[in-house]
Amino acid sequence: RAEVVINGSSSPAVVDRSNESIKHNIQPASAKWRHNQTLSLRIRKQILKFLDAEKDISVLKGTLKPGDIIHYIFDRDSTMNVSQNLYDLLPRTSPLKNKHFGTCAIVGNSGVLLNSGCGQEIDTHSFVIRCNLAPVQEYARDVGLKTDLVTMNPSVIQRAFEDLVNATWREKLLQRLHSLNGSILWIPAFMARGGKERVEWVNELILKHRVNVRTAYPSLRLLHAVRGYWLTNKVHIKRPTTGLLMYTLATRFCNQIYLYGFWPFPLDQNQNPVKYHYYDSLKYGYTSQASPHTMPLEFKALKSLHEQGALKLTVGQCD
Ligand code: CTP
Repeated sequence: RAEVVINGSSSPAVVDRSNESIKHNIQPASAKWRHNQTLSLRIRKQILKFLDAEKDISVLKGTLKPGDIIHYIFDRDSTMNVSQNLYDLLPRTSPLKNKHFGTCAIVGNSGVLLNSGCGQEIDTHSFVIRCNLAPVQEYARDVGLKTDLVTMNPSVIQRAFEDLVNATWREKLLQRLHSLNGSILWIPAFMARGGKERVEWVNELILKHRVNVRTAYPSLRLLHAVRGYWLTNKVHIKRPTTGLLMYTLATRFCNQIYLYGFWPFPLDQNQNPVKYHYYDSLKYGYTSQASPHTMPLEFKALKSLHEQGALKLTVGQCD
């Protein structure tokens, strides 16, 4: 039977940012790409040996109680207490229970989305996943509007909402949360220390203003399980990015998976500059020693899966 070859080499890729985009030439969106159903099912089965998205997408109410002490996944010496608010917002059942979708979009935050005109196509998918509360309204033509699940690293509150220093920023965040309108808000609250207050502020806003979102807080085992799966497939990631986490989870409940906005390179395929994020002025920092991510390595793995028909990457314009 055919092997899933995700990464041909057994050693981490050496990253040369200057011409990385040339090496990653992907055919235009319109070029022939065929979904490989057999391979997708095989990948789902393999990933299920490491994690189950239905369960690991969130800790459930029955499993924790207020006052419980949790050790952060990446900072085992630091702990947090489960607050009453966090407890109140834990789902009773998995937000993905028995869910299956024909096609899903995962929208990464690369500037490659700008002028892509992909908004309409993204919105046609049955389930649309977005990352880190990235804005949509002002960019709808390129990124679409539909949002069924959106992630929120605690650091987003600092980066995009000025740590809620005044009423204006609190209102901005509140508006963004209201606009989610019933979708899933996925908050990695137990990953790394430093985000406790930010998670608490968001929880408080949601409860106080009765914001219509379905909160989810990923399980304590998710990160290691995802890393384990990719390591087993010779993808030597340090800490999976949000985008890779979402793809790994999506294999469980999506038949076909379409990725947009995944392009961790400063130049596009035609050597034009690409912003790191489509919506802010953050610079490329992922290759620094301090960064926990290995995005170009992840990209290489995703590109290989694209070539085998297990997922579809769009890195240019949509038709
Ligand atoms: N992404 C990408 N290329 C970029 C920027 C982002 O491929 N130039 C993808 C990555 O998979 C990333 C996802 O889009 O995880 C969402 O982007 P971002 O919000 O920057 O992701 P995080 O991984 O959460 O980054 P950080 O840990 O710095 O918050």
